[in-house]
Amino acid sequence: MARETGKTMTPSTIRIIPATDAASFGTAAAACFNAILRNKPDAVAVLPTGITPLPFYAALRDNFAAGQIGNQFTYLALDEYCGLPDGDERRFASWVGRELLDPLHIPAWQRVTFNSRASDPAAEVNRIETWLITHGGIDVAVIGLGGNGHVGFNEPGSAFDTRTRIVTLTAATIASNAEYWGGTSRVPTQAFTLGIANLRAARHTILLVRGAAKAAILRRTLTEPPNPAVPASYLQHQNNVTIIADPAALAEIDPALFF
Ligand code: PGA
Repeated sequence: MARETGKTMTPSTIRIIPATDAASFGTAAAACFNAILRNKPDAVAVLPTGITPLPFYAALRDNFAAGQIGNQFTYLALDEYCGLPDGDERRFASWVGRELLDPLHIPAWQRVTFNSRASDPAAEVNRIETWLITHGGIDVAVIGLGGNGHVGFNEPGSAFDTRTRIVTLTAATIASNAEYWGGTSRVPTQAFTLGIANLRAARHTILLVRGAAKAAILRRTLTEPPNPAVPASYLQHQNNVTIIADPAALAEIDPALFF
């Protein structure tokens, strides 16, 4: 069972919800997301890929099938590999599509994604930045935590004022992404990503963290002085942050700080 905790760290308001198993992790994350949609059904939602959010998407599919949530929200891509054709299974737009957007019948005009093979990458970056400005920014950013502290593809060293751009993936990220696609040769080396400044402007943030491999980086995210070496540490100065985490990921968190 997931349980809520009341204690928060300063100066931001970070709430941690521990969840003991995958099902309760998904339910807790979905409840948090749905609470935001209840206030704003047509919210702009940034959604992540990866193994971590899969129970979250499963819970949202169940909620939708039960008529508990609508499908008026707009998906804004957090990041995307460069150079892949439309429909390639590795495209993050395809991944989130399979897991959530297709089952929820989210129409194409509510899917704002990077054109992986844009002939003019700078124009593509500008298109997303302009879209954000004209659509009022991000209501909720749901993000995962990379083993190296990245959020989206904001790799270590990404300044907190970075905006949408193309980045070169680190060897660590290519190695972890290789597990999704069957080898490093199947992982593109460059990607589009929203920047930390874009994520900092989000009205709500939900960080999803599962597994022992994330314990050390979650501790560093929450306890080291915020700095670009751990990009996710920007969250310490962010308002309206909820972290859903399993016991393995929370293993190095001092309960006195948060619980
Ligand atoms: P994971 O990826 O959920 O597959 O661990 C998270 C990330 O790299 O952001």
